[in-house]
Amino acid sequence: MRIAPTDVLANRLDRLRQGLDDRQLDGLIVTSLPNVAYLTGFFGSAGVALVTPEAIRLISDARYSEVVGQRQQEWPAIVPVIVSSALSYEEALSRELGDFTGSRIGFEESHLTVRRHRALTSTAPVGDTVEVVPTDGLVEELRTVKDDWEIGILRDGAARLSDVAKCILPKILEGLTEREVAGQLETELRRVGFERLAFDTIAAAGANAARPHHRAGDERIGRGDLVVTDFGGVLDGYAVDMTRTVIVGTSSARQRDVLEAVAAAQASALAAVGPGKAPEAIDAAARTTLVRAGYGEAFTHGTGHGLGLEVHERPRIGPPRDGRPESLLREGMVFTLEPGAYFSGWGGVRIEDDVLVTASGGEKLTDVPVFL
Ligand code: GLY
Ligand code: MN
Ligand code: MN
Repeated sequence: MRIAPTDVLANRLDRLRQGLDDRQLDGLIVTSLPNVAYLTGFFGSAGVALVTPEAIRLISDARYSEVVGQRQQEWPAIVPVIVSSALSYEEALSRELGDFTGSRIGFEESHLTVRRHRALTSTAPVGDTVEVVPTDGLVEELRTVKDDWEIGILRDGAARLSDVAKCILPKILEGLTEREVAGQLETELRRVGFERLAFDTIAAAGANAARPHHRAGDERIGRGDLVVTDFGGVLDGYAVDMTRTVIVGTSSARQRDVLEAVAAAQASALAAVGPGKAPEAIDAAARTTLVRAGYGEAFTHGTGHGLGLEVHERPRIGPPRDGRPESLLREGMVFTLEPGAYFSGWGGVRIEDDVLVTASGGEKLTDVPVFL
């Protein structure tokens, strides 16, 4: 697995420290594992990072002592802290905070359970000599704009995902079950080098395709069925995500019409992408195209979502929500465009590609014909 080089990590840390300074914070307790991975290059299943003015204390347990030690050798800004099995992570974190008397330290309010928060705040020095304050989305905001190193991986992942589609989708035949199609996609995802699936593969045939997130089951593909296949992989920690809708056998006029309308909606959304554009406007472009085609009611979900260390991350490309507008698009953002149209009892269509915001617009990273 490729880990971000130290100059890339140092740049992320500088940007985070700027955000902490702006909020008069001396440090940040990072409990979101994708955020820990982003800041430190540590991809373990348990860990907490304590970002301080001098270093990043990387707290993990004995299962990862070698990995954490190696991270420090590669980047001396990391200070390993191995939690002994007699201590909880919260106790270990409290001990570390003891070195920061008089400080204001943020924690991630979306990534600390009530139980962990209680454990942390009921133990000195928190509430005594150290103040902990909630923050929201500081690291996630940094993660929305990919650095060149991340864009290289996402580009590579999208090319491999496109190869998977081109290899497997033409082989979707009448008589196969949804689960067999999903299995073939998953075998190929591994073969082209993905380290794991980004999510459970979706293969939805016939009327099942009316459910956007149908789980592949024992349904057999029939002649003339629409089959929605939605699959993704994780490469070097980064998720890519694609959907194609295949027509098995001869297509009907209605199937072609819906497929063309969804493809046109995606093209409208892509044409609207660029730095400074509102994510809500990208969604509106896709939605308007489907409304004009007469399928507005059938488009029941948002147009897309950010991709990166998580398969669903910011920015959200959807209709306005809660009166809280999304931040405007910036060069270097990567997200999906995945409009769809679903009709109960008939089936559905979705087309999904991964898109990079460039200086002048949007560039599709996945490259597979819509009509295979
Ligand atoms: N497969 C999940 C999604 O497309 O968002
Ligand atoms: Mn998606
Ligand atoms: Mn998908």
